[in-house]
Amino acid sequence: MENPLRRVTYASVMEYYECFKEYMGLFWTNLVVQTHNVIEFFRVAASYYSNFAFAKVDLFLLLTYLFHNPFDISKRFLQKRGAKDVYAYGETPLTSMGIIAQECQISAKDTVYELGCGRGRACFCLNIHLGCRVVGIEYVPEFVERANAVKAKFGIEDKDLQFRQEDFLTMDFTGATVIYLYGTCLDKVSIKKLIERFKTLPAGVKIITVSYPLTDYTLEPIFEVMKRFPVPYPWGTADVYLHIKK
Ligand SMILES: C[S@@+](CC[C@H](N)C(=O)[O-])C[C@H]1O[C@@H](n2cnc3c(N)ncnc32)[C@H](O)[C@@H]1O
Repeated sequence: MENPLRRVTYASVMEYYECFKEYMGLFWTNLVVQTHNVIEFFRVAASYYSNFAFAKVDLFLLLTYLFHNPFDISKRFLQKRGAKDVYAYGETPLTSMGIIAQECQISAKDTVYELGCGRGRACFCLNIHLGCRVVGIEYVPEFVERANAVKAKFGIEDKDLQFRQEDFLTMDFTGATVIYLYGTCLDKVSIKKLIERFKTLPAGVKIITVSYPLTDYTLEPIFEVMKRFPVPYPWGTADVYLHIKK
């Protein structure tokens, strides 16, 4: 007769083995991400921290998130809203934002609207480092509250930098000369809604998107894709598109 104990033991070993494999997979992914973060931190320090005003703000912002992971904050917010995809958060590395700013010739004369600015790190960088006026739009209240607290602590004025808790699908973009949208998780309906709003923008406004051009979602000749260039993101290299509103 088959020994049931032996059968259970074999099944348990296999189960442990599968768990171990999964654990190692997660461990490896985490290691890659953390290594990437450490390298990115030193690259940011080397490229941007010579601007002491920015170094202070950026380090303080990072410190306020030491025990508050922005990925968790976003996940909790999306869970409360009953969103299907609660893993929609991601950040543009500042070194990648540097490439985008250079390729798209963003300058101190610009007013940049960042649609879905997350915790606002790139907004601070564009404002303090490049000197442009920046408006960060974000619907997660905790991100906006924290960014505004950092802004107040360092005495940054509203005319230079604003964080607004709004839904970018319903807001107006008056004054924007550049719009940055890292919305790789946006669904087709939302992208089309945004395009409707972009129709009212004056000619010449630059719109920067990650992974897809807006022309994939409309047949109307409203945008001209001026440029497509590769940019590194934590999950891999993406094509970034620079459009000009016609
Ligand atoms: C992929 S993250 C990008 C964060 C930031 N732009 C960056 O590049 O580092 C997208 C952000 O957009 C926000 N978001 C998504 N849909 C939004 C909406 N309709 N209105 C305002 N914010 C939104 C999310 O909460 C999230 O913080």
